Amino acid sequence: MTPPLFVTSDETLLDELLRLAAAAGATPEVAEAGTALRSWTAAPLVLVGADAAEETARLGPHRRAGVHVVSWGPVPHELFRTALALGAESVTELPRSDTWLTETLTDLGDDAPARSLVVGVVGGSGGAGATTFACALGQVAARTGHAVVVDCDPLGPGVDRVLGLESHDGFRWDALCQTTGRLSGRALREALPRRGRLGVLSWYSGTAGSLQAFAVREALSAARRGHDVVVVDLPRSTAPLVEEVVARCDLVVVVVQPTVAGVASTARLVPRLGTGPQLRLVVRGSGLDPRAVARATGVPVLAEMSDQRGLAEAIDLGLGPVRSPRGRLGRAAADVLAQVSVMGRAA
Ligand SMILES: Nc1ncnc2c1ncn2[C@@H]1O[C@H](COP(=O)(O)OP(=O)(O)O)[C@@H](O)[C@H]1O
Ligand SMILES: [Mg+2]
Repeated sequence: MTPPLFVTSDETLLDELLRLAAAAGATPEVAEAGTALRSWTAAPLVLVGADAAEETARLGPHRRAGVHVVSWGPVPHELFRTALALGAESVTELPRSDTWLTETLTDLGDDAPARSLVVGVVGGSGGAGATTFACALGQVAARTGHAVVVDCDPLGPGVDRVLGLESHDGFRWDALCQTTGRLSGRALREALPRRGRLGVLSWYSGTAGSLQAFAVREALSAARRGHDVVVVDLPRSTAPLVEEVVARCDLVVVVVQPTVAGVASTARLVPRLGTGPQLRLVVRGSGLDPRAVARATGVPVLAEMSDQRGLAEAIDLGLGPVRSPRGRLGRAAADVLAQVSVMGRAA
């Protein structure tokens, strides 16, 4: 495994970082600011000491995820500006955040996925089949790795219910809204209601759900660290928080019904999804030619599928939408995941 990179010349800070790394079973590479860029891109995690932050920022390192600025003792105010220039995700004070740092370093261990995929799913029009497809993607992804379906649609049916996990114990959004510290990927994975390698993050059924920015950010970042595939069931909404979630996705699948109304709604939605993630269509049901749907929306088609027979029954039985891998939904989800992982590797 490529080691995490610690950039500092501050001995007190380094001692503490090395102690935490040892507790987490990680062996870091230690560099001074001047030589930090050599391993900057390859390292799975970069911790830049407060002492080295300014000099490292001046070298103009490549923007990447997983960079944190750490300071021994209280964080001086100017450090935030430097951290911003570095593209750091956080500025962290030790020893106060020892636990978080140990967990983050532990996440780098063997069972943390090398590169996880975050796939958002949104309906081009209401009732297009987005929640169903999101759950299907989760079920199929869980055959080969850890997967989670994150429910970001407070007005949806509840992904736990669709997957037959509504009576399983585990964390819901409300528990996450109450946690203040940072969550490790593994801690989140183990806390969620799950069946086999598939977990769900949703609201308790019957409660009025809402999304809170802090909880959503923490959950998505921990979900990414703890799972191979994170599927986000997105609401059809233009709320700023939803736009932020969309921007955090590697890919957004728009489920579209090939009707005049379905295509018209999809064409309105697409420009609002921003330029961050790649967009692809999944065409559900029969009607207009998929090529015409792609032309009208300006988004390429990734998969087409006919309606799944026996869907309501499978869901009522608590089996989730994919009852058989050979069914239409199962095959379409497998097809999408296969193509997406190739796209992800090429990115
Ligand atoms: N692949 C599918 N095959 C057949 N029916 C589907 C499929 N996907 C969704 N549906 C039907 O459409 C309804 C709405 O699906 P849902 O996934 O909740 O849509 P959305 O999340 O886009 O609003 C479901 O109750 C189901 O009856
Ligand atoms: Mg839905």
